Amino acid sequence: MKTYKIAIAGFGGVGRATASLLLSRRMRYRDVYGADVRLVAVCGSRSGVADVDGLEEEQLLTLEDGFSGPAFIEASGADILIEAGPSDFRTGGPGLAYIRSALSAGRDTIVISKGALAHSGRQLRELARGSGAMLKLSGAAAAALPTIDLVGHSLKGCEVLSVEGILNATTNYLLDAMTTRGIGFDTALREAQQGGFAEADPRNDTEGWDTACKLLILANFGLGADLDMNDLTVEGIQSITGDRIEAWRSEGLVPKLVGSLTRVNGAFRAGVGIRTYPLADPFANIRGKDKAIRIVTDAMGETIAIGSGKEPLATAAAALKDLEHILTARIANPFRY
Ligand SMILES: NC(=O)c1ccc[n+]([C@@H]2O[C@H](COP(=O)([O-])OP(=O)(O)OC[C@H]3O[C@@H](n4cnc5c(N)ncnc54)[C@H](OP(=O)(O)O)[C@@H]3O)[C@@H](O)[C@H]2O)c1
Repeated sequence: MKTYKIAIAGFGGVGRATASLLLSRRMRYRDVYGADVRLVAVCGSRSGVADVDGLEEEQLLTLEDGFSGPAFIEASGADILIEAGPSDFRTGGPGLAYIRSALSAGRDTIVISKGALAHSGRQLRELARGSGAMLKLSGAAAAALPTIDLVGHSLKGCEVLSVEGILNATTNYLLDAMTTRGIGFDTALREAQQGGFAEADPRNDTEGWDTACKLLILANFGLGADLDMNDLTVEGIQSITGDRIEAWRSEGLVPKLVGSLTRVNGAFRAGVGIRTYPLADPFANIRGKDKAIRIVTDAMGETIAIGSGKEPLATAAAALKDLEHILTARIANPFRY
């Protein structure tokens, strides 16, 4: 049986959920892929733990100071990196160094954070191409809502003409609460923060940047575009007033924060902003923390997917879906390991 050694860099809510789900699925990996999948290292910003024979759940409870960084992951002997650190699209975040190091060494890499992909996507694609490493990123591209896989598998061969996505759960929750319960932005935000699904500093979500990152990643990694953040117009929901919501409601319209891509003369035009939908449109009925994507192609017409997974399990599962795609590809072509 072939052994696959996995390391996780970034060990917060999502990293921990990914580790636990991976350990709980070891029997599945043996049965389905004939693969002995071992978690050999995890680390946060300052501490970590490694065991080449495979970590067990109880070893994940106490991380040791000083064990962190790309060199720590390198030394663990991992074949596959799962990166789950903070997202910072302005700098690439700490994930950038881990991802660069793994791809340069030819290590297959599953990325959950968005920062490095939005900041240095072209360089990372080139590194992966150069070393032959697989680079998978479902967790960074709306996670439980299939986006990259939808265009890369289900719609393969078709030309994508346009994409519309409700890609950020927090803003959808806020707009939904404002529209259906008539509460103001500040009240809805406080409620979301108390429920743990809006950050203390919510601007990355409310100003549209999280949606923009996901859109950029889908465009560049899924559709072969070469956009950067300066190519996008980005507007958020922070200045939507109760009066405006009421005006839309009186016209039978429901506002959503939407990332959109349109193919114009072979190139993509992209932006993030409010769009309004009549009640009969499926997008008007995407409630609470759900997400959705609508893709129009030349040959398959319109496809809509709706995602409603609970976090952080849903994002962990999206990353491990990527792992299974890597196992499938590597087992079909096993000489790489
Ligand atoms: N939460 C969700 O539902 C969700 C959904 C989709 C995608 N994501 C993405 O998933 C990523 C993780 O989210 P989260 O909710 O798990 O965040 P989190 O709880 O804040 O965890 C972030 C982790 O990254 C670690 N970290 C920071 N700098 C590091 C470094 N230099 N080296 C190694 N680790 C470092 C932190 O370490 P310390 O513990 O030492 O500070 C922490 O363990 C984010 O990029 C987020 O955008 C999250």
